[in-house]
Amino acid sequence: MRVLTGIQPSGKLHLGNYFGAMKPSLALQEENEVFLFIANYHAQTTIRDGALLRDYTHNVALDFLACGLDPQKTAFYRQSDVPEVHELAWLLSVVCPMGLLERAHSYKDKTARGVDANHALFAYPVLMAADILCVNAEQVPVGKDQKQHLEIARDLAGKFNRQVGEEVFKLPDPIIRDSVAIVPGVDGQKMSKSYGNTIEIFGNPKKTRKTIMKVVTDSAALEDSKDPDTCNVFALYKLFADEAEQAALAERYRAGGMGYGEAKKALADKFEAHFEPYRAKRAALEADPDFVNDVLREGAAKARKAMQPVLTAARAAVGLE
Ligand code: ADP
Ligand code: TRP
Repeated sequence: MRVLTGIQPSGKLHLGNYFGAMKPSLALQEENEVFLFIANYHAQTTIRDGALLRDYTHNVALDFLACGLDPQKTAFYRQSDVPEVHELAWLLSVVCPMGLLERAHSYKDKTARGVDANHALFAYPVLMAADILCVNAEQVPVGKDQKQHLEIARDLAGKFNRQVGEEVFKLPDPIIRDSVAIVPGVDGQKMSKSYGNTIEIFGNPKKTRKTIMKVVTDSAALEDSKDPDTCNVFALYKLFADEAEQAALAERYRAGGMGYGEAKKALADKFEAHFEPYRAKRAALEADPDFVNDVLREGAAKARKAMQPVLTAARAAVGLE
């Protein structure tokens, strides 16, 4: 199956991104032809500082490679290294009714939150459709928030095909990752960089431990029985622990006599054991920027090779060739 997904380099990756997006994306590479890209054009809608965008982009590349992305299996690239998507975005704009974009939730939500209302933000779903259709991806794994964008991509593919009377584009199937639990942040709300409640996966280890010790809990006393199912610390612990470990900690919650401090320490230990090997790998990659740049360059070359025949067919169908 040809699978494509993208991640915006709009901040330091946190546990929500890791369990909600990164880990499932990395699992795909075992059985599929995977295209995974860093959506730096999309991130420009919120990041205007060039040095920061460059830094976040490089960091996302390091994070994915450290956590197990295999460049032999996955075409891993920066969106800005594949100019084909921009040309296709134009061809799709031509068949895109204004109403379709006016109905998009993400534009309304983002402008309501103070993001600049500009053409790039408005046209964001068209560029996203181009990312997908340019490689004729069959499946696109995304979070729930991206569902409407996938509908727009399918819609544009269908409109284009109907207009030219040929099946230039396959209609991509969304794979909505709603089976993945919402990872709670330190304050118990959904972990998100916009709420400032994140636990970064590659933050300073000492600071991260301190952050974990601040995860909010109820005020049950040490001797009280506690409910694991409503506890944020337990919800985070579950992400790292196998079933036996989860059952053992749940049992201790219910029995009473264990304070939340101890559960937080167990969580911090799990976090460190999980990320320590990746941290070491990341440090080695950080010391070898040429390797990382080569991976991205080769990934872009692979992606462009897949994109060129699709773009040529689209250009020919509309009379540009
Ligand atoms: P943020 O909310 O921090 O801005 P993004 O919206 O950039 O994060 O997240 C990118 C992807 O990471 C999302 O589409 C979603 O799949 C996943 N994700 C983010 N936060 C969480 C969370 N708290 N729980 C589960 N998945 C998450
Ligand atoms: N809009 C997606 C997000 O914010 C990122 C993205 C851009 C994407 N282009 C894509 C995801 C194409 C999947 C396919 O998470």
